[in-house]
Amino acid sequence: MLHVTKHLFCSAFFLVLKLHYWVFFLTTLLIFQAEIDVAVQLLLKLKTDYKHLTGQDYKAGCPPPENVVNQDNGAATDGIDEEDNVDPWNVSTSNAKGVDYDKLIVRFGSSKIETELVDRIEKVTGQKPHRFLRRGIFFSHRDMHQVLDAYEKNKSFYLYTGRGPSSEAMHVGHLIPFIFTKWLQDVFDIPLVIQLTDDEKYLWKDLAIEECHRFAVENAKDIIACGFDVNKTFIFSDFDYMGSSPEFYRNVVKIQKHVTYNQVKGIFGFTDSDCIGKISFPAIQAAPSFSNSFPQIFGGRKDVQCLIPCAIDQDPYFRMTRDVAPRIGYPKPALLHSSFFPALQGAQTKMSASDANSSIFLTDTPKQIKNKINKHAFSGGKDTIEEHRKFGGNPDVDVSFMYLTFFLDDDEQLEKIKQDYSSGALLTGELKKILIETLQPMIAQHQERRKQVTEETVKQFMTPRPLNFKL
Ligand SMILES: *[C@@H]1O[C@H](CO)[C@@H](O)[C@H](O)[C@H]1NC(C)=O
Ligand SMILES: *[C@@H]1O[C@H](CO)[C@@H](O)[C@H](O)[C@H]1NC(C)=O
Ligand SMILES: *[C@@H]1O[C@H](CO)[C@@H](O)[C@H](O)[C@H]1NC(C)=O
Ligand SMILES: *[C@@H]1O[C@H](CO)[C@@H](O)[C@H](O)[C@H]1NC(C)=O
Repeated sequence: MLHVTKHLFCSAFFLVLKLHYWVFFLTTLLIFQAEIDVAVQLLLKLKTDYKHLTGQDYKAGCPPPENVVNQDNGAATDGIDEEDNVDPWNVSTSNAKGVDYDKLIVRFGSSKIETELVDRIEKVTGQKPHRFLRRGIFFSHRDMHQVLDAYEKNKSFYLYTGRGPSSEAMHVGHLIPFIFTKWLQDVFDIPLVIQLTDDEKYLWKDLAIEECHRFAVENAKDIIACGFDVNKTFIFSDFDYMGSSPEFYRNVVKIQKHVTYNQVKGIFGFTDSDCIGKISFPAIQAAPSFSNSFPQIFGGRKDVQCLIPCAIDQDPYFRMTRDVAPRIGYPKPALLHSSFFPALQGAQTKMSASDANSSIFLTDTPKQIKNKINKHAFSGGKDTIEEHRKFGGNPDVDVSFMYLTFFLDDDEQLEKIKQDYSSGALLTGELKKILIETLQPMIAQHQERRKQVTEETVKQFMTPRPLNFKL
């Protein structure tokens, strides 16, 4: 053990030397942008390795204490990068509990949403924090404190979120960013833009342009059904808006001019055989982060702060955006990141629109919901009732319980379910019944609201126009 500790200490010490070297190297030499990117990535990796090895954040000029221990919950041997794969197109993990979000925060260089931030949001808005915040479903952020600082000084901001419309079918997991964005819009009383990246889907999937655009309009109906305020919300399809807004296109081109092929290759993993549409697309997802992309809303102001609630796999786009922003004279967008919604079959399996059994879809009937959960929801329970009563179930890997953390609003009830399931008092069938009875009315209400969304309503939301708010 002593030997291991010493070895850790030496490795950590060597890392400190390497870090010092790189910090020195970075701050004293003027080198080309591409090389800086490589160096920054190396520096980040060294910092990650350092934290992994010592359990502490790297502080310049502060060598690790002699008694360094790995505080990584005993998971010292798992590869920090091998286990989870997270990018805008693929998310995979081999862990039944799902992606390790603490590691992802270190890897992406974002900040954890601590209780302090949640308390602050409560204080500033005067509203009980949304369950997604209370339960760490939105778990990571960039610059949220800054947004609140400004808001307290009566400087408002706007929200930007989006969706890639790859099919007509949306499942409950797709609603997570919209449910949360709606709450943010309500408690802060601010405008919102929603980008439907039908162009992205055309570039990445084997679909016709008309199909992608149709999916965008169909998805917009489900999004509108989440209850957004038509006087404060602009929903747009890239195919429609890019061609109609010179200001938007100008920002796209400004961004394109300030990002090199090497950078997007590094961030997104593009290869020489990817079409040039893919390579330039990140600029289109970045542009709505800047308020003057919407002159009809912000009247040409370029300094309105943007806050982006999204799933963490979208972060690469906004790391790029934040890197470009100061170079083209715009504020960096702030971010709130959500964790992933698990497939019914378990957190390490993929949810797919082509497999109706992998999730609950917004078009499912009460009977389908019941059958899917009973037949397909991965259970953390024991094989027999006797064993389950004796040893209890494992809520950490149980998909029905995970879904309840997303959709059951009552904290006390959720905690009681967790205790009872863990102790064995609550059986898997009973847990599933609670989930079924939570989702059936929720989906039915969504379907009812969607039915009310007419073509005319969609047109209203999707027409570039002034919105009603004070900044
Ligand atoms: C995502 O994963 C699939 C299959 O694992 C692979 O074929 C595809 O190239 C990956 N896409 C990207 C953008 O990495
Ligand atoms: C913000 O606005 C409110 C109401 O208009 C006002 O009472 C308050 O003094 C303002 N705060 C600052 C810091 O300007
Ligand atoms: C939107 O604004 C219009 C005109 O001011 C108003 O009549 C309508 O009630 C508003 N709608 C909502 C949902 O607030
Ligand atoms: C979904 O599950 C049902 C019943 O368990 C089965 O009959 C059906 O074939 C499955 N569908 C797919 C696409 O796997």
